[in-house]
Amino acid sequence: MKGLEGKVAIVTGASSGIGRETALAFAREGVRVTVSDVMEEGGQETVRLIQEAGGEAIFVACDVSKDDQVQNLVRQTVDAFGRLDFACNNAGIGGESNMVADYSVEGWNKVIGINLIGVFLCMKYQIPEMLKQGGGVIINMASILGRVGFANSSAYVAAKHGVMGLTKSAALEYSAQGIRVLAVGPAFIRTPMIEEGLPPEVLDFLVTQHPIGRLGRPEEVADVVVFLCSDGASFMSGSSIMVDGAYIAR
Ligand SMILES: NC(=O)c1ccc[n+]([C@@H]2O[C@H](COP(=O)([O-])OP(=O)(O)OC[C@H]3O[C@@H](n4cnc5c(N)ncnc54)[C@H](O)[C@@H]3O)[C@@H](O)[C@H]2O)c1
Repeated sequence: MKGLEGKVAIVTGASSGIGRETALAFAREGVRVTVSDVMEEGGQETVRLIQEAGGEAIFVACDVSKDDQVQNLVRQTVDAFGRLDFACNNAGIGGESNMVADYSVEGWNKVIGINLIGVFLCMKYQIPEMLKQGGGVIINMASILGRVGFANSSAYVAAKHGVMGLTKSAALEYSAQGIRVLAVGPAFIRTPMIEEGLPPEVLDFLVTQHPIGRLGRPEEVADVVVFLCSDGASFMSGSSIMVDGAYIAR
């Protein structure tokens, strides 16, 4: 794809699932990648997979809900690679499953802290680096649950709706300065988040909710993220692109 070779990307939550596949997909296009996560072992494995395939990557540990750690993530990336062109702000958790009145305040704050404030912190420190070099692309990982509700997941749904709003505001602020900001909204994707988090009968039910007749694969999201960073998507900014097998088309 055009406009990717030799560029530099940060992928958060890249020890597993969609983040790992996105890091691998960037590297296949010649992008140098900072693999970041709270889980060092999985992150190092992602780096190993990239290097084994001939790509270039480093691991930087970072909890995206912590201001100083996100600042350090961006600094370490620029120290290692000299620039920052793309960011996929992907780290996230499913969180507590409860109805609103039963949802713990602690659980609510945790989901919002990682899934929403984490995306804000990443953009806060990524944007100045991109401005210095005249542009970049930021892809925030939202969800179909940034468009529609889902029972027993109010904090997650609120955070993902928030990510879509944050994406729109940042696109209005920075598109004229060369930074395209987009959100991606996957439906249910077979990653550890849902395969370890949900019982098999719930997964079977979820399949029936996707008109395409199956759940998604993480690489099907990764390929869209990488395309959105390429020159092929040069007029795209501010929108949320669903990768959802027609889940929200009803
Ligand atoms: N799997 C799905 O069905 C699905 C659907 C829509 C959106 N998403 C979103 O995609 C993203 C990736 O999810 P996934 O399905 O690949 O899940 P996953 O659990 O496989 O991967 C998430 C990664 O984020 C990391 N992480 C968790 N908390 C973190 C923190 N505070 N700081 C840094 N890293 C942290 C985890 O260690 C893990 O490696 C999430 O934002 C999720 O909400 C997933």
